[in-house]
Amino acid sequence: MAESSPTPPRWTPAASPRKRLNGVGCNNTGERKTSRGVFLTWQDVSVTAVDEKGKHKVILDRITGCARPSQVLALMGASGSGKTTLLDTLSGRLGLDLIGTGDVLINGRREMLSYGTSAYVTQENTLMPTLTVREAIHYSAQLQLPGSMSPAKKLARVDRIIREMGLSAVADSRIGGRVSKGISGGERRRVSICMQLLASPGLLFLDEPTSGLDSAAAYHVMAYVARLAQTAGITVVAAVHQPSSEVFDLFNALCLRMGGWC
Ligand SMILES: Nc1ncnc2c1ncn2[C@@H]1O[C@H](COP(=O)(O)OP(=O)(O)OP(=O)(O)O)[C@@H](O)[C@H]1O
Ligand SMILES: [Mg+2]
Repeated sequence: MAESSPTPPRWTPAASPRKRLNGVGCNNTGERKTSRGVFLTWQDVSVTAVDEKGKHKVILDRITGCARPSQVLALMGASGSGKTTLLDTLSGRLGLDLIGTGDVLINGRREMLSYGTSAYVTQENTLMPTLTVREAIHYSAQLQLPGSMSPAKKLARVDRIIREMGLSAVADSRIGGRVSKGISGGERRRVSICMQLLASPGLLFLDEPTSGLDSAAAYHVMAYVARLAQTAGITVVAAVHQPSSEVFDLFNALCLRMGGWC
């Protein structure tokens, strides 16, 4: 939808212009404020894109919702309906070319997401093709897990997550890329999720975690995420395309977006 209304007011910046968009941003101090029980609420959230000619395109129009701890909220809708934009908004990663208004609240308050509280698995995999699965996850563990954690414990966590995500058989295979064929697309997807789960975030955003997976692999991944949400109290918000009925049954709540290409 294209509009040429005047530019709406941006989210009220707090500490720094891009780091606190009326509640959500990323406090990259390394301090971990809360890792569990994140109650995420959004009220009257709108997002507008403005092109070089000043033309406005409303992507999200005054939407309200919430995601609860220990639950998986599925975000569904046609391609172009704004699922990724909503995930970006909720996680404080909205692009500079987009204008967001409304409130995003963490546990009822406008506060920043402290480092380690949330994790985001993007729609595209960004993995080093030359590394093996184990190396990629291990390097990620070295970067994300606290220095006070022993190397043995880090390795144990890496091994556990590889096992739980069903990647043991390919743990020592190269990830590969366009030039050299490596693991499958579905396995790449699972590696991306593993890397974000290492730090045990309280809030997990997943953009199409099941895309490219067959129905069995999609169920395997979502069942693991749903189990993790329940056992660890994680709040999960996942944009999902055409889930099977078995995968759909794993969701606790649904946010259905209208519009887009349908
Ligand atoms: N920065 C931007 N500038 C202009 N338009 C944008 C921008 N970001 C997103 N859009 C538009 O907003 C709409 C929603 O995009 P978004 O990526 O959120 O959709 P989606 O539901 O995630 O789609 P898909 O299922 O294909 O991933 C699309 O029409 C897209 O072209
Ligand atoms: Mg998307």
